Amino acid sequence: MSTKDKTKQKIIELTTNLNKWNSEYYNDNVSSVDDTIFDKAMEELIKLEKQYPKFKQENSPTNKVGIMAASTFEKAEHSIKMLSLNKVNTKDELFHFFKQVTDKVGNVSYTVEPKIDGLSISIIYKNGKLDRALTRGDGIVGEDVTNNVLQVKSIPKTIEDKKELIIRGEIYLPITEWTRINKKRLAQDKEPFANPRNAAAGTLRQINPQVVKERNLSSFIFQVVKGATGENWFDTQEKTFKGLKDLGFKVIKETFKSNDYEKLYEKVIHLLDGRADNDYETDGVVIKVNENKYYDELGYTSKFPRWAIAYKPPSEVKETKLINIHPTIGRTGRVTYVASLEPVKFADTMVRKASLHNYDYISILDLRIGDTVQVKKAGEIIPKVISSIKNEAHDKNEVYPKATICPSCGDKLINIEGEVDQYCVNDNCPSRIQESLVHFASRDAMNIEGLSEKQISKFIEIGIVNSIIDIYRIKFEDLIDLEGYQKTSVNKLLASIIKSKDAGLDKLLFALGIRHIGKKSAKELAHRYKNIDALLNLNRDKLISDEDFAHVKAGSIVKWFNDETNQILIKELKDIGLKVTYERKKIKTSDKFVNKILVITGTINGFKREEAKEYFEALGAKVTTSVSSKTDILIVGENPSDKKINSIENAKIISIKSKDEL
Ligand code: IVH
Repeated sequence: MSTKDKTKQKIIELTTNLNKWNSEYYNDNVSSVDDTIFDKAMEELIKLEKQYPKFKQENSPTNKVGIMAASTFEKAEHSIKMLSLNKVNTKDELFHFFKQVTDKVGNVSYTVEPKIDGLSISIIYKNGKLDRALTRGDGIVGEDVTNNVLQVKSIPKTIEDKKELIIRGEIYLPITEWTRINKKRLAQDKEPFANPRNAAAGTLRQINPQVVKERNLSSFIFQVVKGATGENWFDTQEKTFKGLKDLGFKVIKETFKSNDYEKLYEKVIHLLDGRADNDYETDGVVIKVNENKYYDELGYTSKFPRWAIAYKPPSEVKETKLINIHPTIGRTGRVTYVASLEPVKFADTMVRKASLHNYDYISILDLRIGDTVQVKKAGEIIPKVISSIKNEAHDKNEVYPKATICPSCGDKLINIEGEVDQYCVNDNCPSRIQESLVHFASRDAMNIEGLSEKQISKFIEIGIVNSIIDIYRIKFEDLIDLEGYQKTSVNKLLASIIKSKDAGLDKLLFALGIRHIGKKSAKELAHRYKNIDALLNLNRDKLISDEDFAHVKAGSIVKWFNDETNQILIKELKDIGLKVTYERKKIKTSDKFVNKILVITGTINGFKREEAKEYFEALGAKVTTSVSSKTDILIVGENPSDKKINSIENAKIISIKSKDEL
C-alpha cells in the first residue's frame, strides 16, 4: 500500500473510532477509552486532515465544536459568567505566574489545593433555599440540572444565610462509587464507565433523578461569587472555605497556604504524586492568591481570572507489556496492587512499575498478565495502567486471581464490609513495619537523613532494626562493617539520628503514623497539648470539644494512646531522651520584637522566606504579609518591594541583608 493510501486508511479509522466514542459518551453515557487516548486520536486526525484535506471524511468529528446530544435540559444564563482556569505545565511557568502577580500587587500568600476532576456547577440559593443549579455550558449559558443536584447528599437543600448566594464548585463521583457502579454494570453485561469523570458527566445529565440518587455523586464547593457581602467571611480563600463549611457545604481539606514559592511547589508535587490517597480523581492542582482584595487589581481575561492558575504536568501514554502483578502492603496494612512492566521509555524516565490500586481496578480493566497495556504518566506522578489492548493474546491470557494472603507475613487478608480495599491486620507484618519506619524517618516526620527505604530494608534484613525504638539503639559497631559504610558515613547517620531526638512533639505525632493524623492535625495537637503525657490521658469527647476534631480523628488518637504497646513505645522514647514536648523555637532573647507587628520585604541571605518568618515569630513578633497602618517594623532585605517601603506610615525600618547581621 502506498503512503497516501495508508494515510487515507488511517484518517477513516480515526474518524470511525472518534465518532463511535463520541456517540457512546454523549448518547449512552459510557466511555470506552481514557480522555488522553481520545485527545491523542483527535490531535492526530486534525494533523492528518491538514496535510491531506482531500481525504477528510464528510462525517469528520473535527467539523463539530463540542458535540452534544440533543439536550433535554432547559438552558439558563449565568448571572455572573463562569470562568475557567488558565494552565501551566512546568515549574518555570508556575514561577512566572508568581512573578506576574508580585509585579502587580507585591508579595502575597497563595493557596494550593487539588483540582477535582468532575463537572463544574453553579448553585443559587434564595431565601435560604436551593433555587437553581446550572452546569457550566459555555460559561455564559448552562443547563438547568437542579433536580439532579437535589439528589447530591453533600449539597445542602437549605442554608441559614437568607441572602441570595451563588456558590460554585465541582460535582464528582467518588472512586469507590465508580468501582461499585462498574461492578454492577459488568454483572448486568453493560459497558463499564471508563473513568469517574465520565461516569459523573453521564449521571448529572440523567433524565431520571432516581438514577442520580442511586449513583451517590459528591461535591466540593470552593467559590462564592455572590452573597454574604459586608460580613467579610470570604475575604480570603481560607475564610471562604471555613464560611462554606459552616454553612454546610463540603470543602476540600488539603489546602495549604504559604508565600514561599519553593514550599508551594513542593506541595503541588506532593498533591500530584497520587499518594494523597483520596476518594476522588484530580486533574492537576489549583494555585490561588489567598486574599480576595487583590482580585480586582489582578483582573481577568475574557476566559480566566489572573489570580489563579491550574498546574497540570503534561501527560504521556505509552504501550508496553504487563509482565506480572504484585500485591504490596503499606504501613496501614492496605494492599496496593503494582504492575511489573516491560521497561518503557517516557520523556524523562524509564518506567518499569505502575500502580493498579485495588483488585477491583484490575478486574474492571480486565487486565491479564501478558497483555499489552497502556500506561499513563504525568510529571512526577506515579505511572498508572489505564487500559489493556484487547486482542487475541488477551483472550488467551489468564485472569489474575485476587490475593488472599499477605505476601509479606502470610496472614489472611481482610476485606472490610463496604470497602474496596483489602488489609493485612497483623501489627507484626514485616512490610508494615518497614513502611512505618520509612515514614518515621521521612523528611516531614523525624527527618533522619541517610535513613530511607533502601537502608531501612537492609537494616531489617540483617536484624539491626525491627521497630522505631531500635533506630535509637543503632551503634557505630552495627554499621561500620556493612558494605557502603565508612567512618564518616556512619557518624553522619548517627548524628542525624541523635539530632532527630529534638524534632519536637508535632513531628513526632506525625511520625508515629497514627491513622487519620496528618501533618496539620499533628501540629494542632502539639500546639494545644504541649506534652505527650497530656495526650496519654485524653478522652474522646474532650478531644472533640477542645479541638473541634472530627470524630474519626479523635477516635483514632484515643485508640492509639490507649494501646499498651504504644504506651511502652512512648515510655522508651522518653527514656532515650526524645523530646516529647512542643515549644516554639526560641533563638535569641531580645524584647525588641515582642508583640510587634512586622513585615518582611525582600530576602535575607541564609534564610528561606518561611525561616525568616519563624525567626521573628520566635522573638515574639507577629509577622504579616502586607503593610498597613498597624505595622510596627518593616524588615528590608535584598531586592525589597518599593511598594511596601513607600506605603510605610509610622513603622520603623530595619535593614537586614544577611542572617549574620542578626
Ligand atoms: S477555582 C474561575 N478550585 O476547574 C474559576 N476550580 O478549569 C475558579 N475545579 O471551573 C475555580 N477543582 O470547576 C477551582 N480546587 C479547585 C477546583 C476547580 C476543580 C474546576 C472548576 C473550574 C475549572 C476550571
